[in-house]
Amino acid sequence: SSDGLDRVRALIPAIPDFPQPGIVFRDLFPVFRDPKALEALSAHLTTHLLNLPTDVDVIVGIDARGFLLGPLLAARVGASFVPVRKRGKLPGDVVRTSYAKEYGLDEVEIQKDAIKAGQNVVVLDDLIATGGSAKAAGELVRMIGGNIIEYLFVIELEALAGRDVLDAPVYAPIVY
Ligand code: HPA
Repeated sequence: SSDGLDRVRALIPAIPDFPQPGIVFRDLFPVFRDPKALEALSAHLTTHLLNLPTDVDVIVGIDARGFLLGPLLAARVGASFVPVRKRGKLPGDVVRTSYAKEYGLDEVEIQKDAIKAGQNVVVLDDLIATGGSAKAAGELVRMIGGNIIEYLFVIELEALAGRDVLDAPVYAPIVY
């Protein structure tokens, strides 16, 4: 494309057998080392968010790599940023849910007062694989009254069909 996403794509290597044998890992950090690529990615996602049919009130970023682009995009579109974190990291009143990982359960939380009932929320992470963590984050948003308008990722691993477990539109500009 002509909006710089090619520069972004070219900077995402496929690393075989990381973190385990048989996994081909897509690493987004080289994009963060390249200011032009980071700007192109940020601009692309900002334009996408500003073109949604509904105004975005809140961007919810998923621990940990959803914290990288989340605040940056929130500032650009005039939304607030809210984190979903692993159990025990967030002070004050929280709600919690759990989801199955390859080995055991992961428990995640959001602060109860972080979203007002009816606010329009985009759930963000760098990459969607099986969709488990995004689904759990969406459950937390709904538990405190948020209205999910989209799940947003930079990278989608299409063969893992993560979007099929999510119940709102999914957007990811880079698909493998
Ligand atoms: N990259 C980063 N995170 C991941 C991946 C990947 O390829 N697969 C599952 N989580």
